[in-house]
Amino acid sequence: NPPKRIFSGIQPTGIPHLGNYLGALRQWVKLQNEAKASTTLLFSIVDLHAITVRQDASTLFQMRKQMLASLLAVGLDPSKSILFCQSAVLQHAELMWMLSCNASVGYLSRMTQWKSKLNLRPNASPFDAPPSSNSREALKLGLFSYPVLQAADILLYNTTHVPVGEDQSQHVEFTRELATGFNHAFGDLLVPPQTILSPAKRVMSLKQPHKKMSKSAVNEGSRILISDTQEVVEEKIKVAVTDSVQGDITYEPKMRPGVANLINIAFYMDESGMQQRGLASPEQLAQTMQHLAFQDWKPAIADIIGKSLAPIRERYMDIMERDRQEQYLGKVQKDGASRAKAIAEPNLRRIKNAMGM
Ligand code: ADP
Ligand code: NA
Repeated sequence: NPPKRIFSGIQPTGIPHLGNYLGALRQWVKLQNEAKASTTLLFSIVDLHAITVRQDASTLFQMRKQMLASLLAVGLDPSKSILFCQSAVLQHAELMWMLSCNASVGYLSRMTQWKSKLNLRPNASPFDAPPSSNSREALKLGLFSYPVLQAADILLYNTTHVPVGEDQSQHVEFTRELATGFNHAFGDLLVPPQTILSPAKRVMSLKQPHKKMSKSAVNEGSRILISDTQEVVEEKIKVAVTDSVQGDITYEPKMRPGVANLINIAFYMDESGMQQRGLASPEQLAQTMQHLAFQDWKPAIADIIGKSLAPIRERYMDIMERDRQEQYLGKVQKDGASRAKAIAEPNLRRIKNAMGM
């Protein structure tokens, strides 16, 4: 078996919320810490993807920095993982062009993600978008071809494994098809990657527990950030939407989604603590809280979450301080980009060669 190459990306959306953490970042840290010495791990802040929708320049600068600091704060270690900004490695954009010349518009138009961004009907084609502000005129080419850039991100490093959530598995499948088609035409150059599906831990909004926690929700009280203080966590949990069911706390995700969500978050944020207490599931945590009065139950949840966030928040603050004193994040990013480039450059050279360039 060839050595493993693991690649994944996250958009520069500023400080991650607990959905990003439990749904993606914590899985990356685990992969890093359990990796063999022969495994290469690359984690990219994908700013080229971010600009498929209009960004304010100074905000984007700031959010890239916050995301890099967050990756370090949650436990990614630049001596074990290659951490870098996508736009600093020019080969991503160049390989995207090579792949674009081999990517089927028909296949791309069947992808669900951009359709949902445009609020198109699930089975609509890009050529019959409704006559609204989301019409064909407003449809940007970059948003449509986003999966080709994602394929370039992955294939540039001969990635063998891509940890992603369920929502992204369609894009990895597209990447596999693109690689196979390319290899058929130009020789065995690209590695069709495998998906490592993140354990499905959907963290729901604190305000609308039937929707997932998201950075795009207007109400900031709907999400907890990894840098939130104990007080902020307490406040957000206190006003989180649950239900008006009288009596005991019960774990019933369908009937009581708000309650179940808070229990899930507490359980998964402190999994090792739960294990030590002999608790194997969110349901069992709920049973230990069953007797608590409603006004005591939420503070108990907030306490677990706040305590488990404390070391992450402290590291985040330390990193930002270190950055103010010695431009630390700039150094991390520059070093990561040059290590990524060392893999990307010879790979791209071979690919161009095979295509006659
Ligand atoms: P957002 O939904 O806030 O826009 P992104 O779409 O940028 O977040 O997602 C970044 C990563 O975090 C993805 O891997 C995604 O699957 C994961 N993620 C985002 N929100 C959640 C959530 N509420 N629960 C679980 N995972 C999530
Ligand atoms: Na999203």
